[in-house]
Amino acid sequence: MIDPIYVTETAQWGALLDTPRPPHLRQLFAADPGRADRYVVEVGDLRIDYAKQRVDDAVVEALLAVADAAGVATRRDAMFAGEPINVTEGRAVLHVALRRPADQPLTVDGTDVVAEVHEVLDRMSRFSEQVRAGDRLGATGKRLRHIVNIGIGGSDLGPAMAARALQAYHHAELDARFVSNVDGAAITAALDGLDAAETLFVVSSKTFTTIETLTNAGTARAWVVDALGEDAVGRHFVAVSTNAQEVAAFGIDIAHMFGFWDWVGGRYSLDSAIGLSLMLLIGPDRFAELLAGFHVVDEHFRTAPLGANAPVLLGLIGIWNANVLGFDTKAVLPYAEELSRFPAYLQQLDMESNGKSVRLDGSAVTTDTGPIVWGEPGTNGQHAFYQLLHQGTRIVPADFIGFANPHHGHREHHDLLMANLIAQAEALAFGRDRPDEPWRSFPGDRPSTTIVADQLTPSVLGQLVALYEHVVFVQGCVWGIDSFDQWGVELGKELANRITPELTGDAAGEHDSSTAGLMTWYRAHRRG
Ligand code: F6P
Repeated sequence: MIDPIYVTETAQWGALLDTPRPPHLRQLFAADPGRADRYVVEVGDLRIDYAKQRVDDAVVEALLAVADAAGVATRRDAMFAGEPINVTEGRAVLHVALRRPADQPLTVDGTDVVAEVHEVLDRMSRFSEQVRAGDRLGATGKRLRHIVNIGIGGSDLGPAMAARALQAYHHAELDARFVSNVDGAAITAALDGLDAAETLFVVSSKTFTTIETLTNAGTARAWVVDALGEDAVGRHFVAVSTNAQEVAAFGIDIAHMFGFWDWVGGRYSLDSAIGLSLMLLIGPDRFAELLAGFHVVDEHFRTAPLGANAPVLLGLIGIWNANVLGFDTKAVLPYAEELSRFPAYLQQLDMESNGKSVRLDGSAVTTDTGPIVWGEPGTNGQHAFYQLLHQGTRIVPADFIGFANPHHGHREHHDLLMANLIAQAEALAFGRDRPDEPWRSFPGDRPSTTIVADQLTPSVLGQLVALYEHVVFVQGCVWGIDSFDQWGVELGKELANRITPELTGDAAGEHDSSTAGLMTWYRAHRRG
């Protein structure tokens, strides 16, 4: 049993709150010419510059003392050792085992989980190679050219984000579509223009009970049966799940199922079999590079001293911003069109992990927890919401992400793009005084971190995702919450299950007057 931590009751937390707020970033930089060199940490291919955060050495020291008081290192070690740190679900949290090399076994409860991971990876690789080479054909003998990934939440956002991010590495004869929303418009758009004989459905669901996914998969199955007959299902559907029984009940042969384990949280599952659609697109070798990238950051997180440990430092700076400076949100601003889904991916990773109000023992937290995460790729955001970032009354810490070299050949576009990234971080931090024309004044002192790398390769993407996974972990440790459950999604699901038959049948249950009014309106207007 992991002891609950009441970090806000520790002397270190009190000392953090008492730490003097650093002066304006202009003064911090003016007083310390070495700041930009000292407040940079390099991990793998990532260069992480946090010099424009509103911290100084005293703040960092106080934050590190809080990490110590919260037992961050002990909890990290417990995660890597496979202890059941997801206490409300009684599970280990071992996504780090998904990217461990085959020659580094990890035995948990008498089982080498790394051997199991590589068994599945090998099966995924064989299957992907067959499809990519045109050796595994559809039921009518046609080459499979279109992948439709059906899943939601962690069974969609990870592969969808990564497929977009790694577009430059896709097989030339394969494309992919991702369907998540139960809105029929989504599956309709996904199937539009596709030839069933050339389409492979990857139905991804950890539990295989998620209503959105089962509904979309049922519609897709009917579409295939309509076009090619019942016998074609086996050639056109594979499943990714931990639940063989439900996969079989749905009608997919478990010989066509790729498994994973309950110790992989949905939002931490991109690098499990949930990444199958991605592997089909980029191939097993590139997928292995992605995993190797994750592992580089895992090893850094596991071994680097806390004061030089990127996820620890960034996580603690997030604590400073949220709990001491009182900033409620955090913007993620990738200056890379390919990372257009990255903010959405991070929303689930961060907000489903750390959007909690009770600690491990069920007691109420006594400080704010996870921030509201949002963002859009640059430069689009500059022409939309950056006005508020620069001059609004609310301060939004930002993460800028950019690359030295694009995958396209338009260097002049890229130079402009990167000039904008660098300029925005500079403008936010330093502002500009115009006392004569206050509307043209920029207060500055708006914090940001800038993460750059040479190019968005599979390895770099793995490094980026692992970095954010561990940042979320560090913050969850400090707040003493369970970052690996998601009970907050349950009530809405339950009520929807109750309301669905009431909307379509005769019997309406007990509801408040507003809910009852909406249901009456819908029933009255519903056609068909
Ligand atoms: O939204 C809740 C959730 O359980 C997520 O945590 C998960 O990623 C998603 O639903 C999908 O779940 P499954 O993979 O079991 O279909």
